[in-house]
Amino acid sequence: MITSKVIAHRGASRLAPENTLAAFRKARDAGASWIEVDVALTADGQAVIFHDEQLNRCSNGHGWLLNHTLAELQRLDAGSWFAAEFHNEQIPTLEALLLWAAEQSINLNLEIKPVIGREAETVDALVIALQAAQARHNHIASQLLLSSFNPLALAHVRAALPTIPRALLTEAIPADAVLRLQQLDCEGLHFCAELVDQAAILALNNSGFSVRAYTVNHTAAADALIAMGVNAIFSDIPDLAITSAHITPG
Ligand code: G3P
Ligand code: MG
Repeated sequence: MITSKVIAHRGASRLAPENTLAAFRKARDAGASWIEVDVALTADGQAVIFHDEQLNRCSNGHGWLLNHTLAELQRLDAGSWFAAEFHNEQIPTLEALLLWAAEQSINLNLEIKPVIGREAETVDALVIALQAAQARHNHIASQLLLSSFNPLALAHVRAALPTIPRALLTEAIPADAVLRLQQLDCEGLHFCAELVDQAAILALNNSGFSVRAYTVNHTAAADALIAMGVNAIFSDIPDLAITSAHITPG
């Protein structure tokens, strides 16, 4: 089975609580070579892995993640909401994830998810975590693809980490997607698979940009997207069967 066209979305998030080490380990065990995670900012300037702005859905905490320190967040149970067996799962730090990924030779798509108005601070926290991880694994930056829905975050991270590739996240593919990618100096576009637009994908292909679609959990849908020129799909099922030839999402 070819899995390299599949990016594990928040880890193997069908099998384990999303964005936890349990989900990352299950993605690795399923053969994933790429994992997508969401990067958020704590009250004390740390980068952690969590999708929502609010803690309620994926932990036993409440309110804004941004209003909690790392120490407060690490006391939370980030697994029981999914299944009782995961009650020991914590919200991971980005630094811990980077070290794990380096040791496992796993590539990461770090989706930067700043609270609006905290773009620079979120990027600063990412950079600090990366520098700390690089002290032990200096090659880790070469295993990263950065992405964001937020153009300010992309601009900040371009200035801070100019050599790490970036992708723009959207829902629908914008009519001016090529221009936006050129202006933001991004290598690709990540869009919502339900809003697929074959002509827009072709235009991006012809301009040399990568195109990736989220979130695809059925083989037929994945195959149809790949046939249209999508380079990779994000899936909650990292060993989803893909029938077409091997392309890495770098
Ligand atoms: O990065 C792809 C996908 O994760 C974007 O949407 O809401 O799942 O973070 P979301
Ligand atoms: Mg995401």
